[in-house]
Amino acid sequence: MRRMAVRCDCCAEDRLARALDRARIPRRYEHCDFENFEVDVYDDDPRAAGWNRSLAEARLLVQAFTRDFGPGTEHGLLLMGPCGVGKTHLAVAALKELVLRGHQGLYYDYRELLKEIQGSYNALSQTSELAVLEPVLNAELLLLDDLGASKPSAWALETLGHILNARYNDKRITLITTNYLDRETRERTPAVLPTGAEVPRTEETLTDRIGQRIRSRLYEMCRTVEILAPDYRREFRRARSVDRV
Ligand SMILES: Nc1ncnc2c1ncn2[C@@H]1O[C@H](COP(=O)(O)OP(=O)(O)OP(=O)(O)O)[C@@H](O)[C@H]1O
Ligand SMILES: [Mg+2]
Repeated sequence: MRRMAVRCDCCAEDRLARALDRARIPRRYEHCDFENFEVDVYDDDPRAAGWNRSLAEARLLVQAFTRDFGPGTEHGLLLMGPCGVGKTHLAVAALKELVLRGHQGLYYDYRELLKEIQGSYNALSQTSELAVLEPVLNAELLLLDDLGASKPSAWALETLGHILNARYNDKRITLITTNYLDRETRERTPAVLPTGAEVPRTEETLTDRIGQRIRSRLYEMCRTVEILAPDYRREFRRARSVDRV
């Protein structure tokens, strides 16, 4: 009798966990996928339909990017919106799905990346360790989360510019999320939640945080996906505390 080796489910789960680890997806975001991204969240405000539409459109765009990702992909995505609207959730959903399809992806929090680059800086050679830069430069798909979250030194900005330029020249695809909006978008951002609370919007624009040159490069590298809605974390917490009453 011929016996055939069949991969068991736990091997498949192991491989999956290892693939996600290699992509450095933080535990906090491991649950994120397209199915559990809600798009029918708000209903108690005249602007609710607009917010739900914004969530639905963003999910559709990121899903289409993921579905079509391949050798012909020319652009990454720049997910822009106020805090807690699900930017990282959607970007991680795309990264996870592509990693599971066998693509080589890498998650990096922007502040973490700057810290690692700065930490590996060698004053003698005036360069950073290639060990940090190499995977970031060469990942087939890089997710740079929370761009602009810290205001870097001129030298760190130079390095960021170098990373983005090198990836652009090598036609590597980058997914980016940011809280910082462009001036025009900022003016359209909802300022008040259904609860009556103010949405904290950043005064500074993305250009203020990363400079004109890098902002301009991003127009070429990425399609912009705006998500204009209230903070899901805050709304969700409110709903849960109401449930408990
Ligand atoms: N529409 C949604 N459906 C389901 N879960 C959501 C939705 N939006 C956000 N979440 C969840 O809320 C939390 C916050 O979302 P996320 O971190 O993606 O927001 P963000 O826009 O990246 O915020 P920040 O600007 O602070 O980084 C996550 O746990 C995410 O899974
Ligand atoms: Mg985020």
